[in-house]
Amino acid sequence: MSFTVAIDGPAAAGKGTISRAVAARFGFAHLDTGLLYRATGRRVLDGLEPLAAARALVAEDLLRDGLRSAEVAEAASRVAVIPEVRQALLDFQRAFAARDGGAVLDGRDIGTVICPEAEAKLFVTARAEIRAERRFRELSAAGAQTSFEAVLEDVRARDARDMGRADAPMRPAGDAEILDTSDLDIDAAVAAAVAHVAARL
Ligand code: C5P
Repeated sequence: MSFTVAIDGPAAAGKGTISRAVAARFGFAHLDTGLLYRATGRRVLDGLEPLAAARALVAEDLLRDGLRSAEVAEAASRVAVIPEVRQALLDFQRAFAARDGGAVLDGRDIGTVICPEAEAKLFVTARAEIRAERRFRELSAAGAQTSFEAVLEDVRARDARDMGRADAPMRPAGDAEILDTSDLDIDAAVAAAVAHVAARL
């Protein structure tokens, strides 16, 4: 039997950590759908046409190195505005959601477009300054030379592009629970998400 958990929200709100924890807690499979757009963006940086890149995607691509860089994130959010690219990635995501044993999908449009019938829906968010602070600390710890202001500008630009696009813009589904992690530590955020899912099982 399938059971789908849709987790949407902006970058660095805690979506990835929460999704992994929810999947582990309930024994569900997990798909980080941002990787599909990142793998497509990576191939476009390598010279492919966006639609050809999306269509050619196979599971192995998700394991490619280098998908976490700011350059690839930027390329991902540029290919993500192209309706044909989104369409080409749709069936893969729906098939993943329909698998037996439960699935967690995290992204921007899971609860609204990919899985509007998902049994549990969360929109994980946090104030832009808090998200930029978290990202800045991660980048600094990894040795990247950047400033808080530059990271905040990136966060705001990506939010604007994700919320402003015509096709599948980032927004909470009407029936999603909003989980604002601005003032929560990760354990409290995970506990809230687990409680939301447990109440719907
Ligand atoms: O979540 P992540 O930062 O890896 O996503 C990279 C980009 O891919 C996002 O900024 C967004 O533009 C796009 N994306 C999307 N729909 C999804 C997941 C990601 O448009 N479901």
